Amino acid sequence: MAEFSIERTATPTSAEQRQALMVDPKFGRVFTDHMAVIRYTDGKGWHDARIIPRQPLQIDPASTVLHYGQEIFEGLKAYRGKGGGVTLFRPEANAARFAASARRLSMAELPEELFLGAIRELLKVDHDWVPSNPEQSLYLRPFMISNEVFLGVKRANEYLFIVLASPVGGYFSGNGSIPVWVSETYTRAAPGGTGEAKCGGNYASSLLPQQEATDHGCSQVLFLDAKERRYIDEMGGMNVMFVRKDGSVVTPPLGGTILRGITRDSIIKLGRRMGLTMVEEPLAIDDVFRAAEAGEITEAFACGTAAVISPIGEFRRESGSVAFGDGKTAGPVTMKLRNALCALQRGEEADPFGWVHTV
Ligand code: PLP
Ligand code: COI
Repeated sequence: MAEFSIERTATPTSAEQRQALMVDPKFGRVFTDHMAVIRYTDGKGWHDARIIPRQPLQIDPASTVLHYGQEIFEGLKAYRGKGGGVTLFRPEANAARFAASARRLSMAELPEELFLGAIRELLKVDHDWVPSNPEQSLYLRPFMISNEVFLGVKRANEYLFIVLASPVGGYFSGNGSIPVWVSETYTRAAPGGTGEAKCGGNYASSLLPQQEATDHGCSQVLFLDAKERRYIDEMGGMNVMFVRKDGSVVTPPLGGTILRGITRDSIIKLGRRMGLTMVEEPLAIDDVFRAAEAGEITEAFACGTAAVISPIGEFRRESGSVAFGDGKTAGPVTMKLRNALCALQRGEEADPFGWVHTV
């Protein structure tokens, strides 16, 4: 593994300041003292791996990322278990997805050991920032930008890989179920597009429909497939699952237009081990509304690193809405899966999958 040079900040956050910041950190607003940086240039490859004080970047205004959006990112969390140990959950899956996103965006691929090494080295320096509150964790945001100074449209020959760390609580304010807006105007990703890649552009295009969701009092936007505008794809920043009356859990299949959620995959495998029937099949939005009204679908939830498992209370669309239960309380299958997943992630339950890495 490449050696990381380490430069510690001359002005570290004091323990008291840190404690105050971590009382109720809003998602993505508070950052640790350091960041990991690795550079790439054609010819030299990946080099200059460093842990440095968190600081603004200096990039040329003609840097390609500012014009053509070659940017990809990941999201994963470091957890502090009851015994004080720090764990990561399936970080190698994030490394693999990051490499897949790089290939789709025609960017330089970062070797898995560098991805994981950067996270481990950053955690060594900033380990005090991993919260011990069981409702919190340290969100890690690895990302990469193209950084060639050139205005022609082509694959860049320089890249910058960075990892930021941010102590977080829940992604949504409040603890209740979220209302979700079904966008019938906008789509997120078409077949052959970048839907499966975790690239900034997917999120840029989700912001207008997300605003539409907010205007309708909803926390997230649900996208339908771009071809028929019939089938459920996923939400702006998380995958979606439904619980049927018979206790089975169903989620849209992976087909190239939705993100291969690591939480999604983990829930499917964990659910099966818990004896639940986990189904991947296309779900037409009209069928979901009908089934929910008839009581055949009894629960719905969002899943993702930031979202963990967040119950969905209601879906709204132009023609009406449908609620699950009282629209506020999480259903029993949702809570059972959530508790099992969180216990596993924090190293509080035996891990039969080899997913949990102690750092
Ligand atoms: N879908 C989208 C669009 C996302 O942004 C995320 C979050 O990362 C997910 C799904 C869930 O993926 P994961 O469980 O790997 O965090
Ligand atoms: C994550 O869950 O890591 C994401 O990238 C989604 C975003 C809503 C924060």
